[in-house]
Amino acid sequence: MVKKNIDVEPGVLGIDIGGTGIKAAPVDIMKGFLLDERFRIATPQPPKPAAIFSVLEELIERWKWQGRIGCGFPGVIKCDGNVHFTANLSQEWIGINVQKAIESTSSRKVVAINDADSAGLAEMKFGAGRKHNCHGGGVVLMITLGTGIGTALFVDGHLVSNTELGHIEIDGKDAERRAAASRRKREGLSWKKWGERVNKYLQAVEKLVSPDLFIIGGGVSKHSDKFFEYLDVTADIAPAEMLNNAGIVGAALAVEL
Ligand code: BGC
Repeated sequence: MVKKNIDVEPGVLGIDIGGTGIKAAPVDIMKGFLLDERFRIATPQPPKPAAIFSVLEELIERWKWQGRIGCGFPGVIKCDGNVHFTANLSQEWIGINVQKAIESTSSRKVVAINDADSAGLAEMKFGAGRKHNCHGGGVVLMITLGTGIGTALFVDGHLVSNTELGHIEIDGKDAERRAAASRRKREGLSWKKWGERVNKYLQAVEKLVSPDLFIIGGGVSKHSDKFFEYLDVTADIAPAEMLNNAGIVGAALAVEL
């Protein structure tokens, strides 16, 4: 179904590419809310560039989008616009310029950044991190627990992009292979068992960056009552307030970076 044309300003189409689903919605970037219901399409398997680009085209077409587009991508995108690393999508992505590729098919202005960084931008501006989004705001680490583990580091409200702290080693393994939300389901772990893994991960990360605040995001953030009791860190800890919409809203905010 093709949706009505939504006015372009201050609307930005936010697209959040994940290892499991690709979600999008037009976003009011001044107020931080969705201007229409979000729409989700399962990430094509294998998650190769051509298949994912055709999903992106479908999403842009769904709203007949005329304005700017912000895109969160589950991997390292440096300021040259190229993908340098991705753990949960095909390795064919390495070296692809996501921004330019979407711009060339859509003729829209596009900004692409790491998906955890985009979720963090949304939480810092409109959600759990907003009190820290200023000079003297200290260190905030947003952690997204989903298919993988994403991290977004903010110092006095400034994003230090592409931190990739989801790949530190815990018990000889890549941390996201122990503590991502996907592992709980895949291994049939209880909330307690998985919560203890998340706790071990947070304690290790805390030693590295000493945050004042951890924000825990990803779809699982709406179940914080089930696992926060197992988390024991020195920093304050809060669930993402924008829940799973942080990725879409933050992707849209990236156009203003
Ligand atoms: C990727 C990160 C990404 C995270 C969440 C990790 O596997 O390396 O770049 O932010 O997954 O999607």
